[in-house]
Amino acid sequence: MTKKILILPGDGIGPEIVAEAVKLLDCLRTDFGLAIETEEALVGGAAYDAAGHPLPDQTLALAKTADAVLLGAVGGPKWEPLEIALRPEKGLLGLRSGLGLFANLRPAILYPQLAEASTLKPEVVAGLDIMIVRELTGGIYFGEPRGVETLANGERRGLNSLVYTESEIERICRVAFEIAQKRGRRVCSVDKANVLECTELWREVATRVAGDYPDCELSHMYVDNAAMQLVRAPKQFDVMVTTNMFGDILSDAAAMLTGSIGMLPSASLNADGQGMYEPIHGSAPDIAGQDAANPLATLLSVAMMLRYSLGEPDHADRIEAAVSAVLERGLRTKDIAAPGASAVGTRAMGDAVVDALRAAS
Ligand code: NAD
Ligand code: IPM
Ligand code: MN
Repeated sequence: MTKKILILPGDGIGPEIVAEAVKLLDCLRTDFGLAIETEEALVGGAAYDAAGHPLPDQTLALAKTADAVLLGAVGGPKWEPLEIALRPEKGLLGLRSGLGLFANLRPAILYPQLAEASTLKPEVVAGLDIMIVRELTGGIYFGEPRGVETLANGERRGLNSLVYTESEIERICRVAFEIAQKRGRRVCSVDKANVLECTELWREVATRVAGDYPDCELSHMYVDNAAMQLVRAPKQFDVMVTTNMFGDILSDAAAMLTGSIGMLPSASLNADGQGMYEPIHGSAPDIAGQDAANPLATLLSVAMMLRYSLGEPDHADRIEAAVSAVLERGLRTKDIAAPGASAVGTRAMGDAVVDALRAAS
């Protein structure tokens, strides 16, 4: 059966990197017989400009009926003056909550060819392979009450609430353990249980869930220490599981271990295995429109889509091998090139990966 993929380019570098992913999907369709059809829709600032809302009803409806969604990135300075409810980022958050995508997988893997691209010493990052499991539809991003209110004395007060139910914690911890069972069997749950009651509950539930996975080892770490340990000795980690906001922050830090934020893909999954796939980086307004963005995180997100939503692990392996082959040849976008070395553009990098894929057919 032909699978439907919804393409959401978004803003800034979003359309540039997604165009490379579409080339890759076209190649899989024409040269490898992958039965897919793609449709494009608006999200983020582009949707606000065209339709007055960052997540038009039609986009959410299309996302719900698609087998998988591929998103570029949203946001940019142009839309910062808007009220929060209309900002591009709300479009992304609306997709996550509207589709129930509670499990966000962010693998930080160092391609050996990029050991020198990391700002850390090669021996600290060589062989790095961490899976960050980030809770994506709860926590402080969605907790109530929230907002800015005016107090009796006329002063304003801003507030957001960190809220998790036991069942929300339990299901994300189960995802982490199930992934750990297929790799190093070690889960590190990251919290701030020494200060925040909500994450004290998180720790308690994680410990209870661990009882169902006796083949895995659970450890706990406070988030401030985890940030430090990620930079000090990142290879101590196998699977990390954490809250929405801690996962957002730790995954950007982990991205730098792999050479660049332009290398980190992600999968956001719901209970039915339906998924949205996107690079973890943003719309990079500072380099948008310059053919300078690294498209590899997006191409690797396509690989995750093939593996997790489309049941095509062989195609996923092929894409990852093609990325590896291109890096082996020395091709680098600016973010992963050595200082002063020549770099290729977004399109040339995308073309090279497609060529490598074709060459392997
Ligand atoms: P960012 O990730 O967009 O950029 C941070 C830095 O990384 C910039 O210097 C940028 O040039 C660089 N960078 C990011 N992706 C790159 C790539 N593929 N290749 C090379 N360099 C890359 O984060 P920011 O600057 O904090 O945010 C910019 C906008 O993006 C904001 O509006 C923010 O809300 C939004 N954002 C969106 C997403 C998303 O759509 N998933 C994620 C993060 C930020
Ligand atoms: C990410 C982004 C988003 C987040 C923003 C744009 C809503 O930073 O996907 O990591 O905070 O989750
Ligand atoms: Mn982020």
